[in-house]
Amino acid sequence: MELGESAAYVRREVQARVLIATITNPPVNALGADVRRELVAAIEAAEADETVEAVLLVGAGKNFIAGADIREFGKAPRQPSLPEVCERIEQCQKPVIAAIHGVALGGGLEIALAAHYRLAVAGARMGLPEVHLGLLPGAGGTQRAPRLIGVPAALDMMLSGRQIDTEEALAIGLIDRIATGGDAYTHGLAYAQELLSSRAPVRRTRNADRHLTDRDASRAAIAAARADTAKKTRGLFSPLKIVETVEATLEQSFEQGLLTERNLFAQCMASPQRAGLIHAFFAEREVLKAPETRDAKPRPFAHIGVVGGGTMGAGIAVAALDAGLLVTMIERDDASLASGRANIAKVYDGLIARGRMSEQDKENLLARWTGGTTYDALATVDIVIEAVFEDMAVKRAVFSELDRVCKPGAVLATNTSYLDVNELAASVSRPGDVIGLHFFSPANIMKLLEVVVPKQVSADVVATAFALASKLRKVPVRAGVCDGFIGNRILARYRTAADYMMEDGASPYQIDKAIREFGYPMGPFEVSDLAGGDIGWATRKRRAATRAPDERYVQIADRLCERGRFGQKTGRGFYLYPNGSRTGSVDPEVEAIVEAERQRAGISPRTFTNDEIIRRYMAAMINEGANVVHEQIALRPLDVDIIFLSGYGFPRHRGGPMKYADSVGLKTVVDDIREFAKEDPVFWKPSPLLAQLVESGADFSSLNQYA
Ligand code: 3HC
Ligand code: NAI
Repeated sequence: MELGESAAYVRREVQARVLIATITNPPVNALGADVRRELVAAIEAAEADETVEAVLLVGAGKNFIAGADIREFGKAPRQPSLPEVCERIEQCQKPVIAAIHGVALGGGLEIALAAHYRLAVAGARMGLPEVHLGLLPGAGGTQRAPRLIGVPAALDMMLSGRQIDTEEALAIGLIDRIATGGDAYTHGLAYAQELLSSRAPVRRTRNADRHLTDRDASRAAIAAARADTAKKTRGLFSPLKIVETVEATLEQSFEQGLLTERNLFAQCMASPQRAGLIHAFFAEREVLKAPETRDAKPRPFAHIGVVGGGTMGAGIAVAALDAGLLVTMIERDDASLASGRANIAKVYDGLIARGRMSEQDKENLLARWTGGTTYDALATVDIVIEAVFEDMAVKRAVFSELDRVCKPGAVLATNTSYLDVNELAASVSRPGDVIGLHFFSPANIMKLLEVVVPKQVSADVVATAFALASKLRKVPVRAGVCDGFIGNRILARYRTAADYMMEDGASPYQIDKAIREFGYPMGPFEVSDLAGGDIGWATRKRRAATRAPDERYVQIADRLCERGRFGQKTGRGFYLYPNGSRTGSVDPEVEAIVEAERQRAGISPRTFTNDEIIRRYMAAMINEGANVVHEQIALRPLDVDIIFLSGYGFPRHRGGPMKYADSVGLKTVVDDIREFAKEDPVFWKPSPLLAQLVESGADFSSLNQYA
């Protein structure tokens, strides 16, 4: 029919006096320029056609609309803008109905808010997640949502960015009805017919004011949100701007409010935080596209074996149980097995104590757990993850048993932090089945999973690792084999840079503060107190024999450990933790130890500015990140970014260390490294990749293969 002929992105058809506009822009119906143009054309066609009495907006495929097209951000704007589209929809002279299924997010929900009636099919989810991208709803959402659902509910949706279900949406007045069973098209059309029969009028959200009448309550909600936001979102730009735009609904006319929204949206768009957060969004999806996940199909899995029930084994078991998998745990003896099971139960007991799980839930989860002290129990598992002591001889013995009992095709994985996965793979008769799955502690909570790919591994084993990560709701990043893989290898470098600064004159407290102000939740010395100083101490002792003789070695942490100062668990580390407190306080004794060590090393302390601390810390991180990419241990700079965002607390709004390096300018970073090298040429050596990129005027993002 002629209405739909030219429309590729918004299909149009007329059924029983209703123009149905179907947004068709796979995969998620993002509102790119073509969609926007054709949406306006659909409204105009509906107004021009006398046989049409209403408009129905639906999405083709899995979703209504996922929002603005994020790939357009930062590029030259194309007309019509999304606010204009929403305005055109709201101004339509005939009733416009949005029928939502799947998700209606960001600009997608704003389209629905501009419509006159809203229906959602059960299972649909709605949200304004712009805050996660460093933005605020910029297509009238900040002005329409409060008018429709009230200031507190609108602030909650915009500041949390959370998705709400249909029941909640109905309860707060975001939608008019829920349809169950069937599709959005059919329900939407039926609803439109019903509205036409009852002569339902055009009903514009801009005129809704029921919720804004109690201005005092709304103003109080704004004040509370402002105070809370300032406290919680340290350094984040867009949340306070969200509060400001919502406030405009009380103090300004609808039109003025839209202008305020426009102005603040543009400020957010121009902020480097927006660039960092959007980089994180795409990079998180790009890490899933390892060569093996494109070329191979994962092996099926339902039953996981875990060897070792200590810190990591228990955490991994919880992650697998939570994902609905069967788990068989192997330990050395009955007592260790019992403590492995108890470690798992402890996690669930914690959740029960906080009211987040019932005894029955715990029982149901543990019903999928079995334990054993002989390897035969692993004969039928699909994937086994070894998490025994970090000792090659112990691990090789375990792998030889796995080789003996596991069925053909079972994936044999190790959770080693540092050991050579190639060597472990070569020690069994089926090296193609061996892979590293490096979880982070606590393994049931931390999102990151380094998928360590040894030389001989089959592509489908790598694909299986990525599929397991998805099942466990982890963020998998492909890593090559080297000492520490990607994350811990880079960590070792910037941690050392922090130790050097401490010995050269910065106090651990100043360093932690500078790092926190950069956006980390904790500084490096607080982290070491949390993790337990004894772990690093044991590693340092083990490595002492192989340490390069010309390498500078700071002994301060050893001095603390010799005094039993292992951190929070002993009540004292770099900080004091009196009476089991979890927040540390400054300890003059530590300052004295640091000072004595400086003297012993013949160092006359100097002062550091916070800026210099960050420059050195980041230069060490970026330089090793470049080495890791150069040696193809990481596929791309973005893989390094995701490792640090999801496993090491790097502030997400900075996009990761490599993105941060681009924002600072690689030349600045290399100049810094060359400057630092004047005093310590052994530690500070510019990575060949970094030097090469600066030479050619390129940056890390040029090596990230995505738009
Ligand atoms: N724009 C452009 N591309 C998008 C997109 C968007 N809004 N949302 C998703 N995509 C892309 C992804 O990058 C991915 O591309 P790829 O296949 O090339 O990697 C593809 O669509 C599929 O996405 P997912 O892998 O994430 O698919 P899922 O099915 O797991 O999730 C989703 C779907 C829930 C829609 C999820 O993609 C999502 O949350 N998207 C972002 C939603 C969002 O933030 N919307 C607000 C945008 S800002 C805005 O609207 C501003 C306005 O107020 C003016
Ligand atoms: P842990 O000491 O808490 O647990 C190890 C468990 O393995 C113990 O319960 C022990 O009884 C068991 N075990 C030892 N030999 C065994 C054998 N032959 N058969 C069966 N069980 C055996 O150690 P943790 O911290 O859980 O570490 C395990 C592995 O995970 C190590 O390789 C470690 O490097 C790695 N890892 C540790 C992280 C951490 O933060 N603790 C983070 C990431 C990896």
